Amino acid sequence: MTTTTTSPVLTATGVTMRFGGLTAVQAVDLDVHPGEIVGLIGPNGAGKTTFFNCLTGLYVPTEGSVAYRGTVLPPKPHLVTQAGIARTFQNIRLFANMTVLENVLVGRHTRTKEGLWSALLRGPGFKRAEAASKARAMELLEFTGLADKADHLSRNLPYGEQRKLEIARALASDPGLLLLDEPTAGMNPQETRATEELVFAIRDLGTAVLVIEHDMRFIFNLCDRVAVLVQGQKLVEGTSEVVQSDERVIAAYLGTPFEGAPGAEEAAEVEAAEAGATAGATGGTTTGATDEAQRGTTARTEDGQ
Ligand SMILES: Nc1ncnc2c1ncn2[C@@H]1O[C@H](COP(=O)(O)OP(=O)(O)O)[C@@H](O)[C@H]1O
Ligand SMILES: [Mg+2]
Repeated sequence: MTTTTTSPVLTATGVTMRFGGLTAVQAVDLDVHPGEIVGLIGPNGAGKTTFFNCLTGLYVPTEGSVAYRGTVLPPKPHLVTQAGIARTFQNIRLFANMTVLENVLVGRHTRTKEGLWSALLRGPGFKRAEAASKARAMELLEFTGLADKADHLSRNLPYGEQRKLEIARALASDPGLLLLDEPTAGMNPQETRATEELVFAIRDLGTAVLVIEHDMRFIFNLCDRVAVLVQGQKLVEGTSEVVQSDERVIAAYLGTPFEGAPGAEEAAEVEAAEAGATAGATGGTTTGATDEAQRGTTARTEDGQ
């Protein structure tokens, strides 16, 4: 890695977000360097999405600052996008009744200079800009594997492809940093694998990536660095190896061995079976262990919102 010699694309300094008495994000520092894929993990309600909202100007942080390539950003979403940070949402936000291509063209909007009059009069400048935007949008649909669906209404796409379209639309603003909030939520293993390849490809084209995900295998395969948020605070930050083996992460966040750990599945099965047997023997009063086992298997797919 060359992270020591390059200046960061993102510098979040002491970002704090309070909602009344609740501190959702507390004094979080995070840098993302060019060429990096950084993961942000933590249990539901840890403050991950809130932190993204602070980075993108959707929320005005109670304290702290966010800088893009060394310049502090005003907390206004369109200015943040214009500066070079794009995002996708945990809950998909597409224009359902627009075509796939039109959705990407909407994302292109911040990079076109043609003004209102030019658009209304549809002069040569506008037509040229429109053609260029369309060409770029089609390029992005090729890149994300959606080109043959360009004319489909976005609401008719299967779920996995809607997530891809959100990524294509975010890329349309030519970002230097892409923020992905749970990009594989609800995907099957093949789609998740394809998303992993897509994120690598995005990085290889020169866009740094900060990604929130519950799927540990996805995160640890993909990320150069992982930060762990617990109750709004950054608990640990380091390489996948460092984070995976940190006792505090295992205790505070994972509770049980992470997904993919040798024997984890079997252990959970045995635990559940044992708990079931105990519950049966005692007339169903001892359900704690079963609940625990179930939480372990569902936590990765359930959304906090
Ligand atoms: N707009 C809001 N108003 C009040 N509380 C909020 C708001 N947004 C998030 N929170 C609270 O902040 C905490 C962190 O939420 P969130 O950032 O969504 O967590 P995560 O994405 O890690 O699951 C939660 O307790 C949530 O209820
Ligand atoms: Mg979230």
